[in-house]
Amino acid sequence: MNDTPNISRRVFLKTAAAAAAIAALPPIAKKTYARNPAPNDNVCPMLSQKRTLGKGTAAMEVSALGFGVMGMTYNRSRHPDKKQCIRLLHQAVDHGVTLFDTAIIYGPLSNELLAGEALSPFKDKIIVSTKFGHEVINGKGTGRQDSRPETIRRYCEESLKRLRLDTLPMFYQHRFDSQVPVEDVAGTIKDLIREGKVLHWGMCEVSSETIRKAHAVQPLTAIQSEYHLMHRDVETNGVLDVCRELGIGFVPYSPINRGFLGGNINEYTRFDPDNDNRQTLPRFTPEAIRRNLQIVEVLNRFGRTRGLTPAQIALGWLLNKADWIVPIPGTTKLAHLEENIRAADVRLQPQEWKTLENELSKIKIMGSRYPADQQALVGK
Ligand SMILES: NC(=O)c1ccc[n+]([C@@H]2O[C@H](COP(=O)([O-])OP(=O)(O)OC[C@H]3O[C@@H](n4cnc5c(N)ncnc54)[C@H](OP(=O)(O)O)[C@@H]3O)[C@@H](O)[C@H]2O)c1
Repeated sequence: MNDTPNISRRVFLKTAAAAAAIAALPPIAKKTYARNPAPNDNVCPMLSQKRTLGKGTAAMEVSALGFGVMGMTYNRSRHPDKKQCIRLLHQAVDHGVTLFDTAIIYGPLSNELLAGEALSPFKDKIIVSTKFGHEVINGKGTGRQDSRPETIRRYCEESLKRLRLDTLPMFYQHRFDSQVPVEDVAGTIKDLIREGKVLHWGMCEVSSETIRKAHAVQPLTAIQSEYHLMHRDVETNGVLDVCRELGIGFVPYSPINRGFLGGNINEYTRFDPDNDNRQTLPRFTPEAIRRNLQIVEVLNRFGRTRGLTPAQIALGWLLNKADWIVPIPGTTKLAHLEENIRAADVRLQPQEWKTLENELSKIKIMGSRYPADQQALVGK
């Protein structure tokens, strides 16, 4: 009797081919768990890790990831109604998020109003950061900057009302105002802190020289600038260096590059012409998206052996850069909130991050991040 298993030649060839394909795969990280999508995962992820932005009197402890509220009313096409947004913001608090980011210009005003209604009941345990600088008259942005001391004071009072707070926990200058010396801006904030109207402050998209001047007048808690796998200027323009040196925290905005690094955008994606700035950005033309999707392909390849989604890789990469970095991804979906929160658990070897960076460095990104008029406002 022949005890060779009864296996047909076709089945044998198929099995052999599958085994060869598996052997050809890159080595799999020692433990790979299916993390996402995880339809059967009933465990609600908790963001328990904390990070400190700033030091000394400027120190502010927050969850390792924050939440960008902007897209719930502004610049990210269609959004759910107010009730659903409030529910999601409450779920973010329940999941351990303690930093929420808004600004006067988002809407304008509607985003602060939403944040105030949803988040003021939690004011003793969370931080809501907001921003002044873009001029808003009668509820409309003018496109100009106004950081004169009297305007900062007025914006502070108005933000306090919209956010339903007695003190602004974190007040950023949104863009540098070339008409107002940075020392005057910092001095005004110093007075507002002394008066108890503001607790901490920060600046967005400024140069390392401006950071030094401002910090000398009133210690900064955080710098907020664009930083993600497709835009790494702060690594080379001195901004991260000066933050490290002076003990200032760093908050990368648009950490998933406005959704692109999450992998749900392609050249057929259409942005709402009335409520989405992505249609004005050179990197979001259909041609640039089609070309730049090579980046998402690298993230998918990198993530598939590690149980990570592209968004988790993008966020995990930022979190791994320094423990004083706190990204603020925005979302309108509970599934994305939970996916993003899980990025705080990503632990990879330095060599793995290097491999990712090497792969990405081979790709030439098409299109600049901002059109010329918006680029002219940054790095001052
Ligand atoms: N200081 C400044 O000048 C400045 C400028 C821009 C933004 N910001 C701040 O940064 C925050 C975030 O920036 P952002 O909204 O521009 O960019 P982002 O956080 O990089 O991306 C948000 C977009 O990504 C999508 N997304 C979120 N999680 C995802 C996931 N896991 N998979 C796939 N897609 C995902 C969201 O869509 P869904 O709703 O479908 O999840 C949303 O459209 C803002 O809310 C704002 O507070 C500051």
